[in-house]
This record gives sequence, C-alpha cells and structure tokens, in this order.
Amino acid sequence: MDKEIKIIHGDCIDIMKNMENNTIDLVVTDPPYNLSKDYGNDSDDRTRADYLNFSSEWLSEATRLLKPTGTLYVFMGVRYISYIYKILECDLGLLFNSWITWNYTQGIGKTKGFSPRHDDILMFTKSSQFTFNLDDIRIPQKYYRSINNMRGANPGNVWEFSHVHYCQNNRQNHPTQKPEALFERMILASSNIGDVVLDPFCGSGTSMRVCQQTKRNGIGIELNYEYINIVNQRLAQPFSGFDSIDERMIRVPNDLNDEKIRREYINNHIEWFLKYHPETTKKFLDSVKDKYSTKYMQQKLF
Ligand SMILES: C[S@@+](CC[C@H](N)C(=O)[O-])C[C@H]1O[C@@H](n2cnc3c(N)ncnc32)[C@H](O)[C@@H]1O
Repeated sequence: MDKEIKIIHGDCIDIMKNMENNTIDLVVTDPPYNLSKDYGNDSDDRTRADYLNFSSEWLSEATRLLKPTGTLYVFMGVRYISYIYKILECDLGLLFNSWITWNYTQGIGKTKGFSPRHDDILMFTKSSQFTFNLDDIRIPQKYYRSINNMRGANPGNVWEFSHVHYCQNNRQNHPTQKPEALFERMILASSNIGDVVLDPFCGSGTSMRVCQQTKRNGIGIELNYEYINIVNQRLAQPFSGFDSIDERMIRVPNDLNDEKIRREYINNHIEWFLKYHPETTKKFLDSVKDKYSTKYMQQKLF
C-alpha cells in the first residue's frame, strides 16, 4: 500500500513556516542553483546577496522541521556550495556527514575551461543519532571471496548516473529533472518505511515518486503550478522500476565457481540489489550466462 504523498503548491518558505518543529525524518532536496534556469518564475535568477538570504531562510526552516534524529541532503552546483556548507555547519550547527559528487557523465562542452561533469550533494545530520541503512544501499562486490562480505560494499561518495535523456519514457517537461536512482539511494539510506520525507523544491516529483515506491510518506512543495500537474501525473503511472540505476548494481562477481554458492548468490543479488529495478533482472541474468555458461556447461547457473 502506498503511504501518503502530499504535494503542496506554493513558496516553500511560507509553507514550511506553517509546519511544526521536529516532524520530519529526512529533508532531501534539489533547490535552484541560481544559474538562471527557466522554472517559469524568477527563482533561479537572484543577486548573490538575495540568493544567500533565500538559502539561509529555507535551510533554517528545514532544520527547524527536522527531528533530532533527522538528516538533510542538499544538491548544489559548484558556484554556491561553499556558502551552503557554511550556512549548514556554522550558522545552523548541523553535523557534516558526507560530500557526495554526482558525476553525470555527459553535458555541455566548454571551449575555455573544463567542461562541467558533476553536481554535488551535502549530507548533514541534526545530531550524532541518525538513521543510516547501509545494507539497503550496498553495491555488489567485484569478486567472490570467502573473506568478502557478499552482501555488498559501501557505494562510496562518487556516484555516476547519466541525466534522464529526452528520449526516455520517464522524461518530464522540467529543465532539471534528476535521475530517480539518486533519490533512491539517499531515501533508502536515511529513512525507514513510514518515515516522513520533505522535498521543499520538488520540481517534476522525482523525490516523491521514490517515496511513493519505497513506502515513505512524502511532502513535496513546488512554486510552479504546471510542475504540480506533472508530479500528479507521474505519481499515477504504473511502476516498472526506477528510471536509472548505478551500473555497478548489475555487475556479476568474478570467481563464483562453486555451483551451490553461485546459485544462492544470484538469487540473493536480485533481492538485494535489483529490488526496485525489475526490468534490469534480465540484463543481469544475461551477464551471468555470458560469464559462466561456457565455463560451466554442465551446471545450473541460477
Ligand atoms: C532544481 S529544480 C528541482 C528538480 C527536481 N529535483 C526534479 O527532479 O524534477 C528546483 C525547483 O524548485 C522550484 N522552486 C523555486 N523556488 C521555489 C520556492 N521558493 N518554493 C518552492 N519551489 C520553488 C522551481 O520551480 C523548480 O521546479
């Protein structure tokens, strides 16, 4: 059963001001980066001073709403990330946990200077007591070894996902739609089923789609009413898997030579790593065949 997903139209600062202290388990959000993107309003085209005031104000409200055990993730571009870091650590007293780099692999080319290929995500917590479900976000090992934890490895703080391309089914009419797998990892790691997740800048609803499918309660706020319609339509679509995946989730470990261990591992892999990516299971099983069928013609592969 879906948990409740509430989509609210309006300015997130006004809306958050009317919400109660300590009621949110996780804030995960992708605010305007002040790069003059067209969101149908002038929210991404402020003076530096105005942008910093706006950032302080919404971050302060979000922090007030977070439970003492809560976590906050904020996407940011390179121009303003140091200012956002300072607000979070020095002004709001949150605890730094991770600086995650999202490498989006392709993008615009610069002729003078280096073409940008990453955005970053800051993860801060309100106290040292916070949720972190490492087992829900592990990635497959490269090798089967009895000393390796085959439940998987920590994905690290450099995440590679390409943008959602215009030819993909799930591409929405929004200029900065993010891949669902980014939100999948943050939401699974830092909240539990039934928790309340807030995205004050929900855009085309990527975070809310992930909350819906992972059984979190979601509150999404968005200024542009046209995007609210997009979010509602997106939430009504049947689910066939998130629109992106860390390619490491599909890798088949080397040295799965023992038939019993291999069969047990392959079944576990699907449950552990491909839970929200049913359409990728076939690709994974094809890779198992490629890797092991010639070597073990007489054995059952999975
Ligand atoms: C970077 S986009 C979010 C994209 C989203 N993560 C997605 O995957 O579609 C930022 C969004 O914040 C919205 N926005 C800007 N200022 C806002 C405000 N004060 N309150 C609520 N939403 C706002 C913009 O209209 C835009 O859709």
